[in-house]
Amino acid sequence: MENKIEQIKKEAIECINNAQNSKMLEEVKNKYLSRNSEINNLKKGLKDLPNEQKPVIGALLNSVSNELNNLFEEKNNYFYKKELDERLLKEKIDVTLDGEYIPQGHVHPLTQTVNEIVEIFNHLGFSLINPQYSPEVEVEKYNFDMLNFPKEHPAKDMQDTFYCEGAENVILRSQTSNSQVRQMLNSRPPIKVISPGRVYRNESVSARKNNLFHQIEGLYVDKNVTMAQLKGVLNEFIRLYFGSSRPTRYRSSFFPFTEPSVEIDVQCIMCQGKGCSVCSKTGWLEILGAGMVDPNVLKGVDIDPDVYSGFAFGMGVERLTMLKYAVDDIRLFFNNDERFLKQF
Ligand code: PHE
Repeated sequence: MENKIEQIKKEAIECINNAQNSKMLEEVKNKYLSRNSEINNLKKGLKDLPNEQKPVIGALLNSVSNELNNLFEEKNNYFYKKELDERLLKEKIDVTLDGEYIPQGHVHPLTQTVNEIVEIFNHLGFSLINPQYSPEVEVEKYNFDMLNFPKEHPAKDMQDTFYCEGAENVILRSQTSNSQVRQMLNSRPPIKVISPGRVYRNESVSARKNNLFHQIEGLYVDKNVTMAQLKGVLNEFIRLYFGSSRPTRYRSSFFPFTEPSVEIDVQCIMCQGKGCSVCSKTGWLEILGAGMVDPNVLKGVDIDPDVYSGFAFGMGVERLTMLKYAVDDIRLFFNNDERFLKQF
């Protein structure tokens, strides 16, 4: 028995010495020291040996496996260092090479304006509308009829509004005012919401007009809401958005769903009011329409106009952005030219 053990030991040492790399060494280790190795099997057989042999053979087996283990460890450490050195030499990194430039994107200028305006109105007590009440694909009923547009109103013409082929009455909304109707149908006063979104008009595209643009609608309905409050809110908005120095003017106007109605102009930043092509030589640019919610609209959504009143406004996001940063062509917002977008 002792001879056999010595023989195994001799063989194992020879194999360890012959191993050329850590992988070969690992194989040798599996052969001589794993659970199924010969030495381990002999250990398992100890219990069948005569009593006086057990301690002798047991001690011998232990000392042999300890010795082999140490030899493995030693050689393994040697290989680890050697192979690591070789790898590091091969994988040398040149830290002086230029890195790769990864450009970082940012929020689109129109989205920046929307976020800024929504924040101003939050500050004034308006909450963001549930987007469910502000769909871009709409039926005529909410975009026109319930907003008190007469049946033959020219805005309903295909010349002005995009209709859906094959789905009668389905349109791309021409204004965010559709969200007024949906909000009022689905909630009771007090209502104080702000509703940003895309709108579409079938118009010829120019420096001032695109057939897709963005609006932000506001609606406030409660008892005793007045025109003075409308002016107060919008003046405060203009002060916060532009800074107090920007000249503004109110003009009386008409919308089917507000009475009385106004439009607000801001002095053209491009020509400082002198008149240029952007403002059609008037020196002013219209930024929003507003007014007191027409009693007919309130009746249509089952809100009693004798008890409640409200105001609404709708502003153009592109116009507001152009005026703040002196952008002279609305199409720049949609061309995705990085030279333009990077300036914001
Ligand atoms: N929806 C109107 C437009 O697109 C603007 C508006 C909104 C006017 C709310 C009055 C009240 O021109």
